[in-house]
Amino acid sequence: MYYPDEVIEEVRSRSDIVSVISGYVKLQRRGSNYFGLCPFHNEKSPSFSVSPAKQMYYCFGCGAGGSVFNFIMEYENYTFPEAVRHLADQAGIAIPEEEDSEEVRRERDRKTRVLELNKMAARFYYYQLRSPQGARGMEYLKNRALTDETIKHFGLGYAGTNSTVLYRYLKSQGISDQLLKDSGLMQVNERQGMYDKFWNRVIFPIMDVNHKVIGFGGRVMGDGKPKYLNSPETVVFDKSRNLYGLNYARSSKQKEFLVCEGYMDVISMHQAGFTNAVASLGTALTSRHATILKRYTDEVILTYDSDEAGIRAALRAIPLLKEAGVSTRVLHMEPYKDPDEFIKALGTEAFQERIDQAENSFLFELSVMEKSYDMKDPDGKTRFFQAVAGRIAGFELEIERENYIGAVVARYQTSYEGMRKMVMNHLMQGAPVRTAPRPADRERRAEKENGILKSQRLLLTWLVEYPYLYPTVSAYVRPEDFSDELYREVATMLYGQLEKQELNPARIVNHFTETDQQRTVAQIFNTEVPVASQAEQEKAIAETIRKIADNALRQKSEKMNLADIQAQQAFLDAQKRQQSLSGLHISLQAGKNKA
Ligand code: GTP
Ligand code: MN
Repeated sequence: MYYPDEVIEEVRSRSDIVSVISGYVKLQRRGSNYFGLCPFHNEKSPSFSVSPAKQMYYCFGCGAGGSVFNFIMEYENYTFPEAVRHLADQAGIAIPEEEDSEEVRRERDRKTRVLELNKMAARFYYYQLRSPQGARGMEYLKNRALTDETIKHFGLGYAGTNSTVLYRYLKSQGISDQLLKDSGLMQVNERQGMYDKFWNRVIFPIMDVNHKVIGFGGRVMGDGKPKYLNSPETVVFDKSRNLYGLNYARSSKQKEFLVCEGYMDVISMHQAGFTNAVASLGTALTSRHATILKRYTDEVILTYDSDEAGIRAALRAIPLLKEAGVSTRVLHMEPYKDPDEFIKALGTEAFQERIDQAENSFLFELSVMEKSYDMKDPDGKTRFFQAVAGRIAGFELEIERENYIGAVVARYQTSYEGMRKMVMNHLMQGAPVRTAPRPADRERRAEKENGILKSQRLLLTWLVEYPYLYPTVSAYVRPEDFSDELYREVATMLYGQLEKQELNPARIVNHFTETDQQRTVAQIFNTEVPVASQAEQEKAIAETIRKIADNALRQKSEKMNLADIQAQQAFLDAQKRQQSLSGLHISLQAGKNKA
């Protein structure tokens, strides 16, 4: 870590997790915790909890969790030191400049180093575009009607015809081959060694929400193949969670977002003043994207290509957005292919008109469905209406169903009563299966529910919630009795804090540097405690202690080596502790649970 522990702890203690997270997520108090909709996965009912006592958050749905730093890192896509700085700024704490030398610092964080390298590369491409060698690139962009201002705004660049220019430049700056590999900027070939991934292309730097260059796209200046080349996924570039243009769109004044397919579409729309446009990067929109969009808007207008592929992409995106709580309309681009071409041909005002006329996503889906029925044939039409009624029956709210019946009746000139009855029939037969919880969540929740680990988590959670149990618990269970390396480390730190009566679970989270570890620690301290009466809970705690002590004894006896005096001693100690367990009685003190 770049900052001394005391500095980090000072920032953490002055950044109350509830007020920080409230700035991002609507939280409601329930008991001693706060709950809200998880910003890291799609959900309809809140399973995202924030504990003021533990100064931690944890999502029971997707397992995201940690301290206030983890939240800022995950939400803002910040590195740890950036999150520290951000919260320090917010809390008005002056923190010392990073102390380490440039060199030491560079060695520290792979992510930071790749980001720095990307910035260097983006600068390099940017200057190339403006150099005499870049004339072809500049001409191409000008031909596509981009202004100087736009080119600058999006940091566009040029990778020249020689395939080792960037390589040689970065080597001259002392960049290691390993780092070059990590960045995805290079390709390796046995004969040639390392060479630039991008050459003879105009370059589109891809920025995250905080304007940091996380990857690149490169387009051929003509008809070559492939048309676009994109950076591979790297430590900083994850296509499923980044949207091109979001760094600008997030501060656009419009309430809705325009979602399109490509770099050029985003750029043209921004140039025309539609600064609320974003694109998924050469991939289909994912539910992750939908969750991210939901942070900024409740409404999306899809401005996909007017071709077959664009329609299919829209049909796939609509349910994902709906699932995330975003309502969607679809813009009709005909007779043009994409927003870029449309704006070039008809201009800004015409495009604004199309935005205003964008079609409700359900009606769009119906127009697509309609094409597979013979609407001139009475039977074909009836089958179509049956299918429509089936879809309408899938809406949860009666008022929604009524509104859609109304819209369908108006559009297809059919009878309201007839349509309503059809919908009712579908409802009686049991409406189409409502979307089940997403498998990813279920899998995560079902993750290694290894009984003994669960018991160990429970005990650690209880210790945090009832710190006064510490003397009793520690008489029977020692940190070494936990069966997982990480659990042992966490237990050691927690015991240390409880010993000194300085309980501070969030500090334990921050001790770890890997996100996975931090999540596990958050999980350990947020294990769901069975709801029970006080007496039942007391019994459960005693049983859990017994279970862990038994398990520890068993493990020690299995591992015991007769030549190892220390191991024997540890075994005997554990045996003694376990034997004394018969007299164990736990008593909870009503109303005295929080540290
Ligand atoms: P222009 O032809 O420059 O206007 O691009 P476009 O945005 O109209 O291109 P298109 O609709 O063909 O593609 C949309 C997006 O898909 C692009 O912005 C790229 O992100 C991605 N894409 C297109 N072609 C390729 C390709 O050949 N390879 C990869 N990896 N991605 C592509
Ligand atoms: Mn295009």
